[in-house]
Amino acid sequence: MIAPSILSADFARLGEEARAVRGADWLHVDVMDAHFVPNLTLGLPVVQSLLQATDIPIDCHLMIENPGRWAPGYAEAGAYNVTIHAEATDDPIAVARDIRAAGAHAGLSIKPGTPIEPYLEVLREFDTLLVMSVEPGFGGQSFMPEVLSKARTVRKLVDTGHLTLLVEIDGGINADTIHAAAEAGVDCFVAGSAVYGASDPALAVASLRASAAESSAHLHA
Ligand code: DX5
Ligand code: ZN
Repeated sequence: MIAPSILSADFARLGEEARAVRGADWLHVDVMDAHFVPNLTLGLPVVQSLLQATDIPIDCHLMIENPGRWAPGYAEAGAYNVTIHAEATDDPIAVARDIRAAGAHAGLSIKPGTPIEPYLEVLREFDTLLVMSVEPGFGGQSFMPEVLSKARTVRKLVDTGHLTLLVEIDGGINADTIHAAAEAGVDCFVAGSAVYGASDPALAVASLRASAAESSAHLHA
């Protein structure tokens, strides 16, 4: 699955930019509060407008403090998946339950320096794990391959029936780096600059998907 990140889109034309990635599996929307990360982007009113502008399921990545206060609102608005950061809450399970009760899938994200082991039990309450492969806050950074061991650990637990979730990766995914991520067992690839920096964003989505499929076919061969 490919999830273009609208962080790299033209914010003055978000509706058109959502339509420019026809065929994408999810539309990834980065919500930043200038506290959890040193950048400020958009919030619930913009997500509500985007939901009206596209049929692509919306994947909200909340890089915010106090996600328990805000995350359910994105689910109520109709986001398909709402991801919170493990580092931003003491009670990720309570937030996951609230997100699910409000009608969305619940995601847990971990920053590059955060180990996965303390969260393996917690992940039973989530539908997606978002492994950050850059420090959250900005698009256009370089992929950090060292985070892939976390994707591999969770892939193994999913394949052996211990967890049921999608493994998603975010940061620095492009035509080169997607292969290593696919080989680590990632299901869903977020790509910002690689999609919106391309002359044909819909074509970039299709070719990233083909690259990932090629590497995972190799993996399962
Ligand atoms: C970074 C965001 C990413 C960002 C990825 O904090 O979470 O979703 O848009 O952009 P690229 O693909 O350019 O690294
Ligand atoms: Zn993101």
